[in-house]
Amino acid sequence: MKLWGGRFTKETNQLVHNFNASISFDQKFYKQDITGSIAHVTMLAKQGILTDAEKATIIDGLNGILEDIENGTLVIDSTHEDIHSFVEANLISRVGDAGKKLHTGRSRNDQVALDMKLYTRDEVTEIKELVKALLVELNIIMKDNIETFMPGFTHLQKAQPITLAHHMGAYFEMFKRDHSRLTDIYHRMNYSPIGSGALAGTTYPLDREYTAELLGFAGATLNSMDSVADRDYLIELLSALSTIMMHLSRFCEEIIIWNSNEYQFVEIDDAYSTGSSIMPQKKNPDIAELVRGKTGRVYGALLSLLTTMKGLPLAYNKDMQEDKELTFDAIDTVKGCISLFTGMISTMKFNNKTMEASAKNGFTNATDAADYLVNHGVPFRDAHGIVGQLVLYCIDKNISLDDMKLDEYKKISPVFEEDIYEAISLETCVNKRNTIGAPGKEVMKQVVELNDAYIANL
Ligand code: ARG
Repeated sequence: MKLWGGRFTKETNQLVHNFNASISFDQKFYKQDITGSIAHVTMLAKQGILTDAEKATIIDGLNGILEDIENGTLVIDSTHEDIHSFVEANLISRVGDAGKKLHTGRSRNDQVALDMKLYTRDEVTEIKELVKALLVELNIIMKDNIETFMPGFTHLQKAQPITLAHHMGAYFEMFKRDHSRLTDIYHRMNYSPIGSGALAGTTYPLDREYTAELLGFAGATLNSMDSVADRDYLIELLSALSTIMMHLSRFCEEIIIWNSNEYQFVEIDDAYSTGSSIMPQKKNPDIAELVRGKTGRVYGALLSLLTTMKGLPLAYNKDMQEDKELTFDAIDTVKGCISLFTGMISTMKFNNKTMEASAKNGFTNATDAADYLVNHGVPFRDAHGIVGQLVLYCIDKNISLDDMKLDEYKKISPVFEEDIYEAISLETCVNKRNTIGAPGKEVMKQVVELNDAYIANL
């Protein structure tokens, strides 16, 4: 059953077999393994290394294996070391001697490099679609909330008024970068390692460019040692996935705060909340917490693979088999998190009135009061001091700047006139900020349109 039993005189110790085997997890790419083999065999026949009849027999057998795995009649069993051994052994028992020629001109080292690339390449495409769906959802929320005022924070202290559209727009930018990072990774990884052999290529006249083309790669990799030893594309992917999780986690943290009894800026839908076994009143944001929590797991995968790779001499080493479980887990985790998160925010209720009321207190318009003075000839540093006194006065009286009477203003600075009220209204504070990137209504409308155009191009 082994691919390499020839030079051995003893059976492998069972614990050694178990420890060494990867079939329990690399069966995840059985389809890619078969697709890769079909391309390899097609190339071998084109080069005259196999006959057309042998090619046809092998491809028939491989397609049969694929079909049987998919309809459940063929179960991938763990007596084989890995998915490559399983497919080859199965092929040989199906089609006989022709099957023994499948592995001509390749090694499991370039084969596994190919399978993992094919698998992750498909996953990158799927994750991009999920990020795109999230961008669509975010831009819908933006469009609907160009005039929904809320406080913007620094240090989690109220700072200046913004809108919900503006806040969501910040996340739109983050996920936009995530999407483009995935595109970059896809292009960089899209070179085929198959035909690199164990490490030193092969003496068969392979046409590696042809196999690459059959598999949709941009070309063949240019160094056979690097081809079997490179896991950069996984490290880059895990880094991009970690960044996605970091963004989701920050967003979740905000949603957890906004959903708290104290804030009540949002209400997570019942379908996306959970209860407490003891406290009947509770409705908890578990999904947001779990997404925040799972971030650590994805970071762990990145650090784990970086550490695995750091001391490896060229070319292939078995250490690299460790790339699989952690990458698969990170990919599945991220896909789940993006989907759940998108569902959660698309069903979440925003309490516009509460957000607006919160923007109104907490002196978020203090900077605008200072700007008012500056516009009337007061140097900014002096204006800052005067408004500081106003704030102190208001805190003492438990009122807001908008509640002060004009004569109270004038007692602190005679520069203030009736138009101060308009100058510090929420409406003015937000909508006068119309430079590109700011929360003002006009510029935000433009950004939402740009976002739509961006999404349409993805
Ligand atoms: N299961 C192995 C891996 O994932 C496949 C390559 C095995 N190659 C070898 N020379 N033992 O890396």
